[in-house]
Amino acid sequence: MRYLLGLLMVLLLWNCNNAPKNNPKTTTASIDLTNKGIGPVTHLEFDSIVDINMAERGDKIFGAKCTSCHMEESKLIGPAMKGIYERRSPEWVMNIMLNPIEMLKKDPDATALLKEYNNVLMLNQNLTMEEARAIAEYLRTL
Ligand code: HEC
Repeated sequence: MRYLLGLLMVLLLWNCNNAPKNNPKTTTASIDLTNKGIGPVTHLEFDSIVDINMAERGDKIFGAKCTSCHMEESKLIGPAMKGIYERRSPEWVMNIMLNPIEMLKKDPDATALLKEYNNVLMLNQNLTMEEARAIAEYLRTL
């Protein structure tokens, strides 16, 4: 019995530590990690280890093409990027980068975001697949 109680405590503590961090600065829009969005990317599984070179490349492209509207940890014109994979699938993130206009028109989660962000459109930055992939890797490091 003592042993079982101890085990239960350990499990409870472990669970607390692993609970998603409640970040009030991130978006309140709907969360659906099974939604892959609409666009050219139908399957993307990240390697368990972050590819640092790719992430660094992504960081540079993000700095050039995204920071006018996005910051890492707080809202600007668009949502904060930190914790993006706690609310979106990798495919969805790729598709909103590569195909934002159609996503904002047809994807339920993107449409909800658009409403939350007062109908400000995320414009197409004309990224190549490779550039979008590098940014997706960089976003893992936030
Ligand atoms: C003109 C401003 C603007 C630019 C530039 C822009 N975005 Fe956005 N982005 C937005 C807005 C605004 C939203 C919220 C949806 C909407 O209202 O269009 C958004 C949404 C997103 C989302 C979804 C966030 C979430 O919480 O689900 C991601 C991911 C994203 N942008 C990534 C990027 C990346 C990466 C770049 C650079 C390649 C970029 N954006 C460039 C304005 C911008």
